[in-house]
Amino acid sequence: MPRIFSGIQPSGELHIGNYLGAVKNWVQLQHEFESYICIVNYHAITIPYAPDELRRRTREMAVSLLASGLEPGKAVVFVQSDVPEHTELAWVFNTLTPLGELERQVQFKDKASRQEQVMAGLLNYPVLQAADILLYRADIVPVGEDQVQHLELSRVVARNWNARFSPDAPYFPEPQPRLAPTRRIVGLDGQAKMSKSLGNTIGLLDPPDVMWEKLRPAITDPARQRKSDPGDPEACRTIFQLHRAFSPAATVAEVEVNCRGAKWGCIDCKKSLLTHMEAELTPIRTRAEAMQAEPGKVDEILADGAARARRVARDTMAHVKDRMGLDARD
Ligand code: AMP
Ligand code: TRP
Repeated sequence: MPRIFSGIQPSGELHIGNYLGAVKNWVQLQHEFESYICIVNYHAITIPYAPDELRRRTREMAVSLLASGLEPGKAVVFVQSDVPEHTELAWVFNTLTPLGELERQVQFKDKASRQEQVMAGLLNYPVLQAADILLYRADIVPVGEDQVQHLELSRVVARNWNARFSPDAPYFPEPQPRLAPTRRIVGLDGQAKMSKSLGNTIGLLDPPDVMWEKLRPAITDPARQRKSDPGDPEACRTIFQLHRAFSPAATVAEVEVNCRGAKWGCIDCKKSLLTHMEAELTPIRTRAEAMQAEPGKVDEILADGAARARRVARDTMAHVKDRMGLDARD
């Protein structure tokens, strides 16, 4: 069975952009692939953070992932810092990563521009990401579009290591991204992407009344001033995109007709959307609430995930050390 690896930072509550762009894809792929899904807390500390909050968010992320449908019997769900081989391999990879490749990463430039002082960890972030993936020798990495450049770097690292230490038979595969059908969910303000830092999100676990408070004022087709104006669903990027993601095909078709024909106002359209979002998200919220009431169970799942991940991670690290002359007591 081919392997997939993906990671998510515990840096904020999971929003429906993350869910549609990443998590939902993982839930589907767990049936076809041996899946490793990692909560990457070492990545989260590359920008300023509060320790207690990180601890809380790491657990919350585990709850959200499991409630979304990752099954502990299928996918290996674990926390990055529970498997020390991630940072061990990252150091090795630092010695094989050209500095220029790191400096030209768009995400680095973007995040660095928002920091007063830029720490080396922020620059080396994609090296740790390469270690995450290659530790499991994963072939496929299901992520959103914004991670494609990081994966290019992972392939450079794999290639460099193979060329130097395993020239005859490449040991590390060159991992390929696998984009979700919904690549980039637009924010409620119509801004580029739904993102916690832009405050334009709907939380995966938001109750229906909170979702409605956010949906109701969300931007629609700016050219449509009143209900009697015909609308253009394609210009209504956010709401129509969410309909496509959550509503059945018949509803999406109905929205098209009623919007273009000025039969539905935007509020009617949003109410219909809310109904379909609720249908998909209410069971997730209910499962999350049940898990929050049983924290011991989540701890157990994460401990088991880390133990399973480590079995693979140790083997890879032993091989790497062997090939690199790092196994001093040979
Ligand atoms: P982040 O919250 O940026 O750490 O992203 C976690 C995962 O969700 C990554 O695979 C991202 O590519 C994906 N993601 C984040 N925001 C969006 C969005 N607005 N639309 C689609 N996917 C997203
Ligand atoms: N950088 C990714 C993000 O911000 C998170 C991540 C870390 C990741 N390690 C990974 C994603 C390995 C895929 C594979 O979303």
